[in-house]
Amino acid sequence: MRERTFVMIKPDGVAKGLIDEILKRIRGAGLQVTSMRRMKLDRGLAEKLYEGHRGKDYFEPLVDFVLSGDVVVMIVEGDRAITRMRELIGVTDPLKAAKGTIRGDFGSSTRENIIHAADSAENAKRELELFFGN
Ligand code: PPS
Repeated sequence: MRERTFVMIKPDGVAKGLIDEILKRIRGAGLQVTSMRRMKLDRGLAEKLYEGHRGKDYFEPLVDFVLSGDVVVMIVEGDRAITRMRELIGVTDPLKAAKGTIRGDFGSSTRENIIHAADSAENAKRELELFFGN
């Protein structure tokens, strides 16, 4: 089933020079990056992205972190793109993420975990609308 999902390389991924490596892994998995933009988030947009986590103890640190530097946002498309992107990035905590996943290979903490990818069809739609208006 062909799907579209939202992916964001977080400030630590950009600062560590991982943009090309991440694109290579996404394309190597047979997925297509159909739109991409490097940008700095503002607080309102970051809070909307993480709306579902509002009230959690990590909400403020998470928002502050994604505001700390440039991010790269993208639309990724392809067969089962939502699930396959989540497999490629690995679980939230890089210490628990499998080797060979982006977080397992490059992340250092649940805060500095390199990359975000929408976790459901509903969130993919919502996040794509937020950043790309479609
Ligand atoms: S998940 O993947 O949504 O199920 O992960 P979850 O454990 O619910 O974490 C949600 C996001 O919160 C981030 N997080 C943090 N950021 C900064 N500081 C701390 N302490 C922290 N703890 C969790 C985590 O990286 C998840 O970000 P995204 O971008 O959704 O992967």
